[in-house]
Amino acid sequence: MLSVFFGVIQFSWLYYGSLQASKKLYYQLLIRVIKAPLRFFDTTPIGRILNKFSKDFEVIDIDLGLFLHNVIANDGWCCNSNKQFVIATIIFVIIYMIIGTLYSKASRELKRLDSTTKSPLYSQYTETLNGITTIRAFNVTEQFMSEMLTRLDNNIRPFYFLWMANRWLQIWTNGIGAFFPFIAGVMILWKLQEINASLAGLSLSFSMTFTSQIMWSIRKFTQLEMSLNSIERIVEFLNIQQENYHEVVKVKERKSSEKNWLMNGNIKFENLKVKYAEDLEHVLHNISFEINGKEKIGIVGRTGSGKSTMSLSLFRFLEASEGKIFIDNIDISKLNLEELRSNLTIIPQDPILFSGSLPLSSSKSLNNHALTAEDSNVTSELLINIFSNLDTPISEGGNNLSQGQRQLLCLARALLKKTKIIIMDEATAKIDFDMDEKIQKMIRNEFNDCTIVCIAHRLQTIIDYDKILVLDQGCSVSKFYQMCKQSGDFEKLKSLALKQS
Ligand SMILES: Nc1ncnc2c1ncn2[C@@H]1O[C@H](COP(=O)(O)OP(=O)(O)OP(=O)(O)O)[C@@H](O)[C@H]1O
Ligand SMILES: [Mg+2]
Repeated sequence: MLSVFFGVIQFSWLYYGSLQASKKLYYQLLIRVIKAPLRFFDTTPIGRILNKFSKDFEVIDIDLGLFLHNVIANDGWCCNSNKQFVIATIIFVIIYMIIGTLYSKASRELKRLDSTTKSPLYSQYTETLNGITTIRAFNVTEQFMSEMLTRLDNNIRPFYFLWMANRWLQIWTNGIGAFFPFIAGVMILWKLQEINASLAGLSLSFSMTFTSQIMWSIRKFTQLEMSLNSIERIVEFLNIQQENYHEVVKVKERKSSEKNWLMNGNIKFENLKVKYAEDLEHVLHNISFEINGKEKIGIVGRTGSGKSTMSLSLFRFLEASEGKIFIDNIDISKLNLEELRSNLTIIPQDPILFSGSLPLSSSKSLNNHALTAEDSNVTSELLINIFSNLDTPISEGGNNLSQGQRQLLCLARALLKKTKIIIMDEATAKIDFDMDEKIQKMIRNEFNDCTIVCIAHRLQTIIDYDKILVLDQGCSVSKFYQMCKQSGDFEKLKSLALKQS
């Protein structure tokens, strides 16, 4: 009874402890990954991140506690060794230790390979799922299938050899272990007169269980070592660089006159230089310009000229390597990151939607608005254009909507936030001309007191904006006129301007 009682206590304590530790570790890892800078996601394959959150935590949740228990239990057994066989036991233990070292060396590496080859498999799986229509349209299913099978083979190979290593260990420990009962038998026969029957029986049965016990000791110890490998991999991720969220005091909590921050919405770029990583070239070179509060500014430029990069640097997703950005005369690098981002609105180039009902997908703020009510004409009009029923479910990534509809929904979501500064990165690029014009009109009427930075490819979108900035290879240029002349857009612009006036 006592043994059962202590057994239950022991297991409960072990599993409770390991689950608590795993929970804590999971939470820490999640926070670290969520707060990792943009570069981390550019350089870390999604499969590697998934692998940590799935396989490595499975090992910690399920295996680690069990292996730890097994090792403790086996160690206890070793201490009870029969004194008659101490010398023989020591010799055998030394032999087994040599075998164990060889086994654990090989199996540790195989286990590591098993874990690392899982990441490309997960990456391939995610990529294939995302691009399934493109894969089928290009008729490259076979190619992807063969790539998937290759990666699967690469993953299964170390797993297979890991089991082969287990068999190798068993053969050797059993082979050598067979000598142990043999030696025990010889010793009993040799000292037949001195050893009584019960001790002889005990020694023989002990010598027979010895082999399997020592084999399991080695295997469990190696398994424990391999499980700790998962912890090592997670700890390595716990050291990733972080964005500084809470280092700086929020402006609204400061005691200075800066409290007027974001009353105007002025933006000033001062010799801004930005690069995506230390080892990469600058993408923006010495950008300097100023936008007054409530101004509407259009940004145009060729593909890859750095327009989106500029909007990312406003949010400090990319930190300036040189130069500064000021918003209402405060250097944004001195602002609390959370405060900065929550006071800006961006409608990104690729609309991001979440699965669920419409309010959920469009952000929490929609819940607080009666969508058909007059207080949000813009949003209502935009949304009514897409949905007859506001309870329409949104599937993952907004797959059940057209690209234009997704942009409209993102626009509605962003406009509801109503911040002083709104950045639109080709927010209406996939929307038809008529709708684009209507949206621009709405923005002008409803967001009169906001600063709007609109990145656009269509000149029509930004034709009546207060200023137009042209970016070329990361530099601001003032050759808008030549550009339009060359592209043949000038006449169009002139007639549009005349029409407007
Ligand atoms: N994540 C990234 N890592 C490294 N370099 C990048 C990354 N994103 C963009 N770049 C580089 O930065 C430059 C500017 O890219 P950006 O996305 O700002 O262009 P863009 O003007 O917005 O183009 P588009 O009109 O096609 O949207 C490009 O040369 C690109 O190669
Ligand atoms: Mg862009």
